[in-house]
Amino acid sequence: MIFKNSKPTVIISGGSSGIGFSMANFLLKQAFNVINIDVYRVKNPNKSYRYLYCNLNKVNFIEKTLKSLKKEKNIIGLINCAAITISQNSLEYKIDNWNKTFLTNLTAPFFLSQFISKIMIKNKIKGSIVNISSISAKVAMPNNPAYNASKAGLISLTKSLAVDLAKFKIRVNSILPGYTITPLNSKSLKNKKLKSERTKKTLLKRWALSSEYNEAVLFLLDNSKSSYMTGSNITIDGGWTAKGL
Ligand SMILES: NC(=O)c1ccc[n+]([C@@H]2O[C@H](COP(=O)([O-])OP(=O)(O)OC[C@H]3O[C@@H](n4cnc5c(N)ncnc54)[C@H](O)[C@@H]3O)[C@@H](O)[C@H]2O)c1
Repeated sequence: MIFKNSKPTVIISGGSSGIGFSMANFLLKQAFNVINIDVYRVKNPNKSYRYLYCNLNKVNFIEKTLKSLKKEKNIIGLINCAAITISQNSLEYKIDNWNKTFLTNLTAPFFLSQFISKIMIKNKIKGSIVNISSISAKVAMPNNPAYNASKAGLISLTKSLAVDLAKFKIRVNSILPGYTITPLNSKSLKNKKLKSERTKKTLLKRWALSSEYNEAVLFLLDNSKSSYMTGSNITIDGGWTAKGL
């Protein structure tokens, strides 16, 4: 237990799968209350964390759908982890796919941050927001213009929120994961050629496990450890973006 307050609460979007699922379970073990906001209820729910249904694409309804959170007095953190990827070449990319990707990956994290920040401010909590971006914010993955651009936008959003929320002592940072074994990557994990290309390009010659971001998120949530850090980002990618040729 790292916080003096009893049972601090962390809200996570996308906690039903992959990296978010791993973070939610890890934070539970660190004695947080965890509330998972997702469009999909995890099949084998861990009863010790709360699940709230929300389709984050319906941005106008986020506040209404999640109104029960307004009663929470001890929300110290928000992790914006939910995202989608729709792969298609730039010349054929459909506007519906573009809009859906941006709504989920960038618009929703903004409005969820706005909603949760207001609750933190009302309760005078020096909170922390962690946005899960991607190495796609730094380097462009092929056939994924909307995902790449939305994840780059999330880095900029991190800075904008850090600037506007600093006066309330709310810190905002992001994590940039590399290729990770999760359902988001099911297509490239099934395709031997794609899987091995991505492995070869990673300096550490392997894909990440979904648990390999847990300590970083804990660090960013903890005011006593990352107290001087805001508007910043941490890249955890096995060396993918370090390599030139
Ligand atoms: N897996 C990777 O290789 C990788 C690499 C870099 C960054 N990331 C980022 O990490 C985060 C988690 O990715 P993951 O691989 O665990 O993905 P995942 O597909 O396993 O999980 C994503 C979760 O988001 C939820 N979600 C999607 N759309 C939603 C919506 N409209 N409303 C509510 N919930 C919604 C899904 O139901 C799911 O539970 C994402 O932000 C992703 O961009 C992943």
